[in-house]
Amino acid sequence: MTQRSQWASRLGFILAASGSSIGLGNIWKFPYVAGQNGGGAFVLVYLVSILLVGIPIMMAEFLLGREGGKDAIGSFARLAGKNSPWCLVGGTSVIAAFILLSFYAVVAGWCFDYVVKSAAGTLQHASPEQISALFSDLLSSPGQMIFWQACFLMATAAIVSCGIQHGIERWSKILMPLLFLLLLYLFVHGLFSGGAGRAAQFLFSADFSLLTPQSLLAAVGHSFFTLSLGAGVMITYGSYLDRQADLFSMAIKVSALDTMVALLAGMAIFPVVFSAGLDPGAGPGLVFQTIPIVFSSAPMGWLLAVVFFLLLAFAALSSSISMLEVSVAWLVDEKQWSRFKSTTLLSLGAFLLGLPSLFSFNLWHDVTFFGSLTFFDLCDKLITSYMLPLGGMAVAVYSGWFLKRSSSQCRQSLCCAQSWIYPLWSILIRFVAPVAVAIVFIQQLGVI
Ligand code: PFF
Ligand code: NA
Repeated sequence: MTQRSQWASRLGFILAASGSSIGLGNIWKFPYVAGQNGGGAFVLVYLVSILLVGIPIMMAEFLLGREGGKDAIGSFARLAGKNSPWCLVGGTSVIAAFILLSFYAVVAGWCFDYVVKSAAGTLQHASPEQISALFSDLLSSPGQMIFWQACFLMATAAIVSCGIQHGIERWSKILMPLLFLLLLYLFVHGLFSGGAGRAAQFLFSADFSLLTPQSLLAAVGHSFFTLSLGAGVMITYGSYLDRQADLFSMAIKVSALDTMVALLAGMAIFPVVFSAGLDPGAGPGLVFQTIPIVFSSAPMGWLLAVVFFLLLAFAALSSSISMLEVSVAWLVDEKQWSRFKSTTLLSLGAFLLGLPSLFSFNLWHDVTFFGSLTFFDLCDKLITSYMLPLGGMAVAVYSGWFLKRSSSQCRQSLCCAQSWIYPLWSILIRFVAPVAVAIVFIQQLGVI
């Protein structure tokens, strides 16, 4: 029970939850996925999905965690009954968080590598071509990537095994605002770089003819990914919450911060993409090929680059600890394992499962599934496009239709502040969220 007091303070909880949601998803993934899916229309669907589906589901996850008072599986077991099929929803979300951790650590490792590259001055005064080549060099060095992946997972494990309050909570207060400031700097830089107009047009003018069923699914999937939904994280974190906290305002704050960081990142990166003549659909390397260009010519640019990639690594770290925490909490709560043993074994497992993802950038580049997906792509697609949205939808259906709590209890629990919030949440969680996710899936299957 000792770890349940971790987020006893509201600020601690907000920091933890936004630490989980703000991560590689915002700065690394959002720009390149938006780029691959044609920009504006994708961004619009993503924003609508955050508003109508993401926020209500985040509230529902907080609610399930707080009412259940345990890890993701344990909370379902306590609320729905020990052998209820709903426990499977908890189970698949634990698995999703674990798979996610395995490939997230590979990319987070790149950030570490770029901290060192920047500090060594390698990126300084390099041309865009040289900067692209440096990224390709990294991808073709499995040994180097394994080293950084392992470092990242060890850092994650160290924090999770020691408990969180003295490490991540204290550092979040300093580093998250710093990340924000630096993004603001990059954003302003972007405004003056000549590519800003095209960037804004690319991100915000919606051309719906570009919206394929796949990109619709990608947008909805990304809204779950970016808010850390459907993987049991917010259930687990919600279980450390006090009774009085207003779940609505918490969810709004976390989602607003997350969205702001993603849009800032987009507006920092796309001007560079356009003014340097890069391809917006360049894929996972986008951030690593654009941001160094900005810094390579700026005064003290190497230092800013060090800070940027350090902060990005930190944002990734505060997300990865939440992924690890989901399965650690399960072993600690349900199997009575020690926190240290659970953390060690699970992070080792994530390391091993991460290797095929890592090799898909080099040694196993040609091993593909379903046509052209590498193992990394496969994991990413499985998690982002399927497991998270389905997990989130199950949470919505359960909390909207099956949760045996009187509505006045839920009402009180969800929003202390305003009376209109509960009825609106009810409609969104019972109808809008499940139907929206279902439509996206059916469309993907080509039925509609
Ligand atoms: N929200 C994180 C990001 O945007 O980087 C990723 C994430 C963390 C997704 C935890 C899911 C999760 F359970
Ligand atoms: Na995010």
